[in-house]
Amino acid sequence: MSGRDRRRARKPDERDSPRVDREGAVWRIRSLAVARQVLRARDATAQAGFTAEAIPKDYLRHHPILVSDGPLHDEQRSKVARFFAPKVVEERYAAQAASCADRLLDRARSTGSCQLDELALRYTVEVTAEVVGLTHAPVPAMARRLVSFFNQPPVDVTRPDFGRTRAMWARAAVNALLPIGRFYLADVRPAIRARLRERQGDVISHLLDEGYGNADILVECVTYGTAGMVTTREFIVMCVWHLLRHPALLDRYLVAGQPERFAILNEVIRLEPVVGHLYRRVTAPIELTEGDRTWTIPAGDLVDLCLRPANADPEAVGDDPLDLCPARPLPAGVNAAGLSFGDGAHRCPGQPLALLETDLLLTRLLALRPRITAEPTLAWDNLIEGYQLRGLVLDLRI
Ligand code: HEM
Repeated sequence: MSGRDRRRARKPDERDSPRVDREGAVWRIRSLAVARQVLRARDATAQAGFTAEAIPKDYLRHHPILVSDGPLHDEQRSKVARFFAPKVVEERYAAQAASCADRLLDRARSTGSCQLDELALRYTVEVTAEVVGLTHAPVPAMARRLVSFFNQPPVDVTRPDFGRTRAMWARAAVNALLPIGRFYLADVRPAIRARLRERQGDVISHLLDEGYGNADILVECVTYGTAGMVTTREFIVMCVWHLLRHPALLDRYLVAGQPERFAILNEVIRLEPVVGHLYRRVTAPIELTEGDRTWTIPAGDLVDLCLRPANADPEAVGDDPLDLCPARPLPAGVNAAGLSFGDGAHRCPGQPLALLETDLLLTRLLALRPRITAEPTLAWDNLIEGYQLRGLVLDLRI
Protein backbone atom coordinates (compact mmCIF):
# COMPACT_ATOMS: atom_id res chain seq x y z
CA MET A 1 0.00 0.00 0.00
CA SER A 2 1.38 3.42 -0.96
CA GLY A 3 1.67 6.63 1.08
CA ARG A 4 2.47 7.48 4.67
CA ASP A 5 1.78 4.80 7.24
CA ARG A 6 0.68 6.13 10.64
CA ARG A 7 -1.18 3.04 11.84
CA ARG A 8 0.05 2.02 15.28
CA ALA A 9 -2.10 -1.05 16.03
CA ARG A 10 -1.06 -3.54 13.41
CA LYS A 11 -0.90 -7.28 13.57
CA PRO A 12 2.22 -8.67 11.93
CA ASP A 13 0.36 -11.61 10.35
CA GLU A 14 -2.63 -9.61 9.09
CA ARG A 15 -3.10 -9.52 5.31
CA ASP A 16 -4.68 -6.72 3.30
CA SER A 17 -5.48 -8.88 0.25
CA PRO A 18 -7.24 -10.61 -1.44
CA ARG A 19 -10.32 -8.41 -1.15
CA VAL A 20 -12.62 -11.43 -0.89
CA ASP A 21 -11.17 -14.74 0.13
CA ARG A 22 -12.70 -18.16 0.73
CA GLU A 23 -11.23 -20.97 2.79
CA GLY A 24 -13.71 -23.85 3.07
CA ALA A 25 -16.84 -22.49 4.72
CA VAL A 26 -15.13 -19.31 5.98
CA TRP A 27 -15.07 -16.13 3.90
CA ARG A 28 -12.73 -13.27 4.69
CA ILE A 29 -13.71 -9.84 3.41
CA ARG A 30 -11.23 -6.97 3.21
CA SER A 31 -13.10 -4.72 0.78
CA LEU A 32 -15.09 -2.02 2.59
CA ALA A 33 -17.89 -2.02 -0.01
CA VAL A 34 -18.33 -5.80 0.10
CA ALA A 35 -18.12 -5.90 3.91
CA ARG A 36 -20.90 -3.31 4.03
CA GLN A 37 -23.09 -5.45 1.75
CA VAL A 38 -22.73 -8.34 4.21
CA LEU A 39 -23.54 -6.13 7.22
CA ARG A 40 -26.62 -4.80 5.42
CA ALA A 41 -27.90 -8.26 4.42
CA ARG A 42 -30.10 -8.12 7.51
CA ASP A 43 -32.50 -10.94 6.56
CA ALA A 44 -29.80 -13.35 5.41
CA THR A 45 -27.27 -13.22 8.26
CA ALA A 46 -27.06 -13.74 12.01
CA GLN A 47 -24.61 -12.39 14.58
CA ALA A 48 -21.68 -14.80 14.98
CA GLY A 49 -19.13 -12.58 16.72
CA PHE A 50 -18.28 -12.28 20.42
CA THR A 51 -18.89 -16.07 20.73
CA ALA A 52 -22.62 -15.30 20.22
CA GLU A 53 -23.23 -18.74 18.76
CA ALA A 54 -21.97 -20.42 21.93
CA ILE A 55 -24.18 -18.39 24.30
CA PRO A 56 -27.13 -20.47 25.56
CA LYS A 57 -30.24 -18.33 25.05
CA ASP A 58 -33.04 -20.69 26.14
CA TYR A 59 -33.15 -19.41 29.71
CA LEU A 60 -33.71 -15.82 28.58
CA ARG A 61 -37.16 -14.36 27.97
CA HIS A 62 -35.75 -11.72 25.61
CA HIS A 63 -32.92 -12.15 23.16
CA PRO A 64 -29.95 -9.92 24.01
CA ILE A 65 -29.69 -6.95 21.62
CA LEU A 66 -26.21 -7.90 20.43
CA VAL A 67 -27.15 -11.40 19.29
CA SER A 68 -30.79 -10.95 18.37
CA ASP A 69 -31.79 -10.63 14.70
CA GLY A 70 -34.81 -9.86 12.53
CA PRO A 71 -37.94 -7.80 13.31
CA LEU A 72 -37.64 -8.31 17.08
CA HIS A 73 -34.13 -6.86 16.98
CA ASP A 74 -35.31 -3.87 14.89
CA GLU A 75 -37.94 -3.18 17.53
CA GLN A 76 -35.39 -3.42 20.37
CA ARG A 77 -33.13 -1.03 18.50
CA SER A 78 -35.78 1.58 17.84
CA LYS A 79 -36.77 1.56 21.50
CA VAL A 80 -33.26 2.13 22.87
CA ALA A 81 -32.49 4.70 20.15
CA ARG A 82 -33.98 7.42 22.35
CA PHE A 83 -31.09 7.03 24.80
CA PHE A 84 -28.39 7.35 22.17
CA ALA A 85 -29.47 9.89 19.52
CA PRO A 86 -26.82 12.65 19.16
CA LYS A 87 -29.16 15.39 20.45
CA VAL A 88 -30.24 13.31 23.45
CA VAL A 89 -26.66 12.44 24.30
CA GLU A 90 -25.61 16.10 24.12
CA GLU A 91 -28.55 17.32 26.20
CA ARG A 92 -28.68 14.58 28.81
CA TYR A 93 -25.13 13.37 29.34
CA ALA A 94 -22.67 16.08 28.24
CA ALA A 95 -22.75 18.10 31.48
CA GLN A 96 -22.26 15.03 33.65
CA ALA A 97 -19.43 13.71 31.42
CA ALA A 98 -17.73 17.13 31.46
CA SER A 99 -17.85 17.37 35.24
CA CYS A 100 -16.53 13.80 35.55
CA ALA A 101 -13.63 14.72 33.20
CA ASP A 102 -12.88 17.86 35.25
CA ARG A 103 -12.89 15.92 38.51
CA LEU A 104 -10.60 13.14 37.24
CA LEU A 105 -8.19 15.64 35.65
CA ASP A 106 -8.08 17.83 38.77
CA ARG A 107 -7.11 14.79 40.79
CA ALA A 108 -4.47 13.76 38.24
CA ARG A 109 -3.03 17.29 38.15
CA SER A 110 -2.67 17.33 41.91
CA THR A 111 -0.31 14.35 41.62
CA GLY A 112 1.44 15.78 38.54
CA SER A 113 0.89 12.82 36.21
CA CYS A 114 -1.55 10.13 35.18
CA GLN A 115 -1.62 6.72 33.56
CA LEU A 116 -4.15 7.42 30.85
CA ASP A 117 -5.67 3.94 30.41
CA GLU A 118 -6.61 3.94 34.11
CA LEU A 119 -8.11 7.41 34.01
CA ALA A 120 -9.95 6.57 30.75
CA LEU A 121 -11.45 3.42 32.26
CA ARG A 122 -12.77 5.32 35.30
CA TYR A 123 -14.19 7.95 33.00
CA THR A 124 -15.92 5.68 30.45
CA VAL A 125 -17.36 3.44 33.15
CA GLU A 126 -18.79 6.43 35.02
CA VAL A 127 -20.31 8.01 31.89
CA THR A 128 -21.86 4.80 30.51
CA ALA A 129 -23.06 3.72 33.96
CA GLU A 130 -25.20 6.85 34.08
CA VAL A 131 -26.87 6.04 30.72
CA VAL A 132 -27.48 2.42 31.61
CA GLY A 133 -28.45 3.02 35.23
CA LEU A 134 -25.61 1.15 36.96
CA THR A 135 -25.16 3.80 39.59
CA HIS A 136 -25.16 1.75 42.77
CA ALA A 137 -21.58 0.64 43.42
CA PRO A 138 -18.39 2.77 43.49
CA VAL A 139 -17.03 3.19 39.94
CA PRO A 140 -13.49 1.79 40.50
CA ALA A 141 -14.88 -1.49 41.87
CA MET A 142 -17.37 -1.88 39.00
CA ALA A 143 -14.62 -1.07 36.48
CA ARG A 144 -12.50 -3.91 37.92
CA ARG A 145 -15.42 -6.33 37.62
CA LEU A 146 -16.05 -5.34 33.99
CA VAL A 147 -12.43 -5.65 32.96
CA SER A 148 -12.17 -9.11 34.53
CA PHE A 149 -14.64 -10.54 31.93
CA PHE A 150 -11.92 -10.18 29.36
CA ASN A 151 -9.61 -12.63 31.08
CA GLN A 152 -10.54 -15.44 28.69
CA PRO A 153 -8.62 -18.29 27.06
CA PRO A 154 -7.99 -17.79 23.30
CA VAL A 155 -10.95 -18.31 21.01
CA ASP A 156 -11.23 -18.66 17.23
CA VAL A 157 -14.86 -18.24 16.13
CA THR A 158 -14.01 -19.37 12.58
CA ARG A 159 -13.45 -22.94 13.84
CA PRO A 160 -16.33 -25.28 14.62
CA ASP A 161 -14.94 -26.00 18.11
CA PHE A 162 -13.96 -22.30 18.51
CA GLY A 163 -10.38 -23.55 18.75
CA ARG A 164 -10.92 -24.48 22.40
CA THR A 165 -10.41 -27.76 24.23
CA ARG A 166 -12.89 -28.91 26.90
CA ALA A 167 -10.51 -27.67 29.59
CA MET A 168 -10.38 -24.25 27.93
CA TRP A 169 -14.20 -24.11 27.78
CA ALA A 170 -14.32 -24.97 31.47
CA ARG A 171 -11.81 -22.21 32.22
CA ALA A 172 -13.79 -19.79 30.00
CA ALA A 173 -17.00 -20.61 31.88
CA VAL A 174 -15.39 -20.08 35.28
CA ASN A 175 -13.61 -16.89 34.17
CA ALA A 176 -16.84 -15.47 32.77
CA LEU A 177 -19.37 -16.71 35.30
CA LEU A 178 -17.56 -15.62 38.46
CA PRO A 179 -17.15 -11.97 37.36
CA ILE A 180 -20.70 -11.99 35.96
CA GLY A 181 -22.01 -13.29 39.28
CA ARG A 182 -20.14 -10.56 41.15
CA PHE A 183 -21.33 -7.93 38.67
CA TYR A 184 -24.91 -9.11 39.15
CA LEU A 185 -24.81 -9.04 42.93
CA ALA A 186 -22.87 -5.80 43.36
CA ASP A 187 -24.12 -3.70 40.44
CA VAL A 188 -27.10 -5.04 38.51
CA ARG A 189 -29.38 -6.43 41.23
CA PRO A 190 -29.27 -3.30 43.42
CA ALA A 191 -29.93 -1.17 40.31
CA ILE A 192 -32.97 -3.30 39.38
CA ARG A 193 -34.34 -3.15 42.92
CA ALA A 194 -34.02 0.63 43.08
CA ARG A 195 -35.76 0.99 39.69
CA LEU A 196 -38.55 -1.39 40.63
CA ARG A 197 -39.33 1.09 43.39
CA GLU A 198 -38.94 4.11 41.12
CA ARG A 199 -38.04 4.26 37.39
CA GLN A 200 -35.17 6.62 36.56
CA GLY A 201 -35.27 7.23 32.79
CA ASP A 202 -32.26 5.00 32.02
CA VAL A 203 -31.77 1.78 30.03
CA ILE A 204 -32.50 -0.52 33.01
CA SER A 205 -35.75 1.34 33.74
CA HIS A 206 -36.71 0.94 30.07
CA LEU A 207 -35.95 -2.81 30.13
CA LEU A 208 -38.16 -3.21 33.23
CA ASP A 209 -40.98 -1.43 31.40
CA GLU A 210 -40.51 -3.92 28.56
CA GLY A 211 -40.97 -6.85 30.95
CA TYR A 212 -37.33 -8.01 31.01
CA GLY A 213 -36.40 -10.38 33.84
CA ASN A 214 -33.26 -10.20 35.98
CA ALA A 215 -31.25 -12.55 33.73
CA ASP A 216 -32.20 -10.59 30.59
CA ILE A 217 -31.20 -7.31 32.20
CA LEU A 218 -27.91 -8.77 33.39
CA VAL A 219 -27.01 -9.84 29.83
CA GLU A 220 -27.82 -6.39 28.44
CA CYS A 221 -25.74 -4.74 31.17
CA VAL A 222 -22.77 -6.97 30.30
CA THR A 223 -23.19 -5.91 26.65
CA TYR A 224 -23.36 -2.20 27.43
CA GLY A 225 -20.54 -2.52 29.93
CA THR A 226 -18.16 -4.25 27.60
CA ALA A 227 -19.39 -2.76 24.28
CA GLY A 228 -19.59 0.77 25.63
CA MET A 229 -17.05 1.24 28.35
CA VAL A 230 -14.11 -0.96 27.44
CA THR A 231 -14.04 0.02 23.74
CA THR A 232 -14.24 3.75 24.41
CA ARG A 233 -11.38 3.45 26.88
CA GLU A 234 -9.06 2.08 24.18
CA PHE A 235 -10.26 4.71 21.71
CA ILE A 236 -9.41 7.54 24.13
CA VAL A 237 -5.87 6.26 24.71
CA MET A 238 -5.30 5.74 20.98
CA CYS A 239 -6.49 9.27 20.14
CA VAL A 240 -4.26 10.89 22.77
CA TRP A 241 -1.26 8.82 21.68
CA HIS A 242 -1.74 9.85 18.04
CA LEU A 243 -2.40 13.50 18.78
CA LEU A 244 0.58 13.90 21.10
CA ARG A 245 2.84 12.32 18.48
CA HIS A 246 1.41 14.46 15.65
CA PRO A 247 1.89 18.11 16.73
CA ALA A 248 0.27 19.66 13.64
CA LEU A 249 -2.91 17.63 14.13
CA LEU A 250 -2.88 18.39 17.87
CA ASP A 251 -2.70 22.13 17.15
CA ARG A 252 -5.68 21.81 14.79
CA TYR A 253 -7.64 19.80 17.35
CA LEU A 254 -7.07 22.43 20.02
CA VAL A 255 -8.37 25.33 17.93
CA ALA A 256 -11.04 23.54 15.88
CA GLY A 257 -14.80 23.68 16.41
CA GLN A 258 -16.72 20.54 17.35
CA PRO A 259 -17.42 19.29 13.77
CA GLU A 260 -13.72 19.39 12.87
CA ARG A 261 -12.70 17.79 16.17
CA PHE A 262 -15.22 14.99 15.56
CA ALA A 263 -13.79 14.57 12.04
CA ILE A 264 -10.34 14.09 13.59
CA LEU A 265 -11.66 11.54 16.10
CA ASN A 266 -13.54 9.63 13.38
CA GLU A 267 -10.40 9.54 11.25
CA VAL A 268 -8.36 8.14 14.16
CA ILE A 269 -10.87 5.35 14.72
CA ARG A 270 -11.09 4.63 11.00
CA LEU A 271 -7.36 4.09 10.97
CA GLU A 272 -7.36 2.26 14.30
CA PRO A 273 -10.63 0.31 14.68
CA VAL A 274 -11.01 -0.86 18.28
CA VAL A 275 -13.01 -3.93 17.22
CA GLY A 276 -10.88 -5.68 14.61
CA HIS A 277 -13.28 -8.27 13.18
CA LEU A 278 -17.04 -8.72 12.91
CA TYR A 279 -18.57 -12.11 12.11
CA ARG A 280 -21.83 -13.17 10.52
CA ARG A 281 -23.36 -16.60 9.93
CA VAL A 282 -25.11 -16.71 6.57
CA THR A 283 -28.68 -17.99 6.98
CA ALA A 284 -29.87 -17.60 3.35
CA PRO A 285 -27.63 -17.31 0.26
CA ILE A 286 -26.26 -13.79 -0.29
CA GLU A 287 -25.01 -12.36 -3.53
CA LEU A 288 -22.14 -9.87 -3.27
CA THR A 289 -20.82 -7.71 -6.07
CA GLU A 290 -17.85 -5.45 -6.66
CA GLY A 291 -17.15 -4.03 -10.10
CA ASP A 292 -17.72 -6.91 -12.49
CA ARG A 293 -17.11 -9.62 -9.88
CA THR A 294 -19.85 -11.47 -8.01
CA TRP A 295 -19.78 -14.03 -5.24
CA THR A 296 -22.62 -16.11 -3.79
CA ILE A 297 -22.17 -17.10 -0.18
CA PRO A 298 -24.23 -20.19 0.66
CA ALA A 299 -26.31 -20.55 3.83
CA GLY A 300 -24.30 -21.99 6.69
CA ASP A 301 -20.98 -20.32 5.80
CA LEU A 302 -19.25 -17.91 8.16
CA VAL A 303 -18.12 -14.45 7.08
CA ASP A 304 -15.17 -12.77 8.79
CA LEU A 305 -15.21 -9.03 8.13
CA CYS A 306 -11.64 -7.83 8.56
CA LEU A 307 -12.07 -4.22 9.65
CA ARG A 308 -8.43 -3.08 9.64
CA PRO A 309 -7.88 -3.80 5.93
CA ALA A 310 -11.47 -2.77 5.04
CA ASN A 311 -11.04 0.63 6.73
CA ALA A 312 -7.80 1.14 4.81
CA ASP A 313 -9.28 0.05 1.49
CA PRO A 314 -8.04 2.67 -1.02
CA GLU A 315 -11.07 2.04 -3.24
CA ALA A 316 -13.28 3.33 -0.41
CA VAL A 317 -11.16 5.85 1.51
CA GLY A 318 -8.89 7.10 -1.28
CA ASP A 319 -5.16 7.76 -1.39
CA ASP A 320 -2.86 7.28 1.57
CA PRO A 321 -5.34 5.04 3.40
CA LEU A 322 -2.90 4.53 6.30
CA ASP A 323 -2.35 8.25 6.86
CA LEU A 324 -4.42 10.45 9.18
CA CYS A 325 -6.31 12.89 6.93
CA PRO A 326 -9.49 14.11 8.67
CA ALA A 327 -10.56 16.05 5.59
CA ARG A 328 -10.19 13.11 3.20
CA PRO A 329 -12.97 13.10 0.58
CA LEU A 330 -15.19 10.06 1.06
CA PRO A 331 -17.70 8.72 -1.46
CA ALA A 332 -21.39 8.79 -0.54
CA GLY A 333 -22.28 5.97 1.83
CA VAL A 334 -18.81 5.65 3.43
CA ASN A 335 -18.91 6.65 7.10
CA ALA A 336 -16.11 8.90 8.34
CA ALA A 337 -15.25 6.17 10.87
CA GLY A 338 -15.21 3.47 8.16
CA LEU A 339 -16.74 0.32 9.61
CA SER A 340 -15.34 0.88 13.11
CA PHE A 341 -18.86 1.16 14.53
CA GLY A 342 -20.23 -1.54 12.21
CA ASP A 343 -23.09 -1.00 9.75
CA GLY A 344 -26.58 -2.34 9.09
CA ALA A 345 -28.84 -3.88 11.71
CA HIS A 346 -26.23 -4.15 14.49
CA ARG A 347 -24.54 -0.81 13.84
CA CYS A 348 -23.27 0.60 17.15
CA PRO A 349 -25.91 2.82 18.75
CA GLY A 350 -23.21 4.29 21.02
CA GLN A 351 -21.15 6.11 18.35
CA PRO A 352 -22.48 9.61 19.22
CA LEU A 353 -21.89 8.98 22.94
CA ALA A 354 -18.40 7.55 22.34
CA LEU A 355 -17.39 10.58 20.24
CA LEU A 356 -18.90 13.14 22.58
CA GLU A 357 -17.39 11.72 25.76
CA THR A 358 -14.00 11.26 24.12
CA ASP A 359 -14.07 14.85 22.87
CA LEU A 360 -15.11 16.24 26.27
CA LEU A 361 -12.17 14.52 27.97
CA LEU A 362 -9.62 15.24 25.24
CA THR A 363 -10.34 18.97 24.89
CA ARG A 364 -9.71 19.33 28.62
CA LEU A 365 -6.73 17.00 28.88
CA LEU A 366 -4.89 18.20 25.77
CA ALA A 367 -5.35 21.87 26.69
CA LEU A 368 -3.04 21.08 29.63
CA ARG A 369 -0.32 20.30 27.05
CA PRO A 370 0.69 17.00 28.65
CA ARG A 371 4.00 15.33 27.79
CA ILE A 372 4.43 11.60 27.30
CA THR A 373 6.78 10.13 29.90
CA ALA A 374 6.08 6.45 29.09
CA GLU A 375 4.84 5.00 25.79
CA PRO A 376 2.01 2.46 25.98
CA THR A 377 2.52 -1.22 25.30
CA LEU A 378 0.22 -2.77 22.75
CA ALA A 379 -1.48 -6.12 23.30
CA TRP A 380 -4.40 -7.87 21.59
CA ASP A 381 -7.69 -8.88 23.10
CA ASN A 382 -9.12 -12.12 21.83
CA LEU A 383 -12.84 -11.53 22.38
CA ILE A 384 -13.32 -8.28 20.45
CA GLU A 385 -10.10 -8.83 18.45
CA GLY A 386 -9.04 -5.34 19.33
CA TYR A 387 -5.97 -3.63 20.70
CA GLN A 388 -5.25 -2.88 24.31
CA LEU A 389 -3.00 0.04 25.15
CA ARG A 390 -1.55 0.06 28.64
CA GLY A 391 0.95 2.23 30.43
CA LEU A 392 0.69 5.57 28.57
CA VAL A 393 1.93 7.93 31.30
CA LEU A 394 1.44 11.67 30.93
CA ASP A 395 3.27 14.42 32.76
CA LEU A 396 0.68 17.06 33.63
CA ARG A 397 2.95 19.63 35.29
CA ILE A 398 2.70 22.81 33.26
C1 HEM B 1 -15.16 3.70 20.60
C2 HEM B 1 -16.18 3.13 21.15
C3 HEM B 1 -17.02 2.06 20.53
C4 HEM B 1 -16.73 1.20 19.50
C5 HEM B 1 -15.45 1.09 18.69
C6 HEM B 1 -17.90 0.36 19.31
C7 HEM B 1 -18.00 -0.60 18.32
C8 HEM B 1 -19.14 -1.34 18.08
C9 HEM B 1 -19.34 -2.22 16.95
C10 HEM B 1 -18.30 -2.49 15.86
C11 HEM B 1 -20.56 -2.76 17.05
C12 HEM B 1 -21.24 -3.69 16.04
C13 HEM B 1 -21.07 -5.15 16.34
C14 HEM B 1 -21.52 -6.02 15.18
O1 HEM B 1 -22.01 -5.54 14.17
O2 HEM B 1 -21.34 -7.24 15.27
C15 HEM B 1 -21.16 -2.25 18.27
C16 HEM B 1 -22.41 -2.59 18.74
C17 HEM B 1 -22.93 -2.11 19.92
N1 HEM B 1 -22.42 -1.08 20.70
FE1 HEM B 1 -20.71 -0.08 20.37
N2 HEM B 1 -18.86 0.72 20.22
C18 HEM B 1 -18.37 1.77 20.98
C19 HEM B 1 -19.04 2.45 21.97
C20 HEM B 1 -20.29 2.12 22.45
C21 HEM B 1 -20.98 2.82 23.50
C22 HEM B 1 -20.47 4.07 24.22
C23 HEM B 1 -22.15 2.13 23.74
C24 HEM B 1 -23.25 2.39 24.72
C25 HEM B 1 -23.17 2.86 25.87
C26 HEM B 1 -22.18 1.01 22.81
C27 HEM B 1 -23.17 0.07 22.74
C28 HEM B 1 -23.28 -0.88 21.75
C29 HEM B 1 -24.38 -1.83 21.67
C30 HEM B 1 -25.57 -1.94 22.63
C31 HEM B 1 -24.16 -2.61 20.53
C32 HEM B 1 -25.02 -3.75 20.01
C33 HEM B 1 -25.96 -3.22 18.96
C34 HEM B 1 -26.70 -4.32 18.23
O3 HEM B 1 -26.23 -5.45 18.15
O4 HEM B 1 -27.78 -4.02 17.71
N3 HEM B 1 -21.03 1.05 22.04
N4 HEM B 1 -20.29 -1.36 18.85
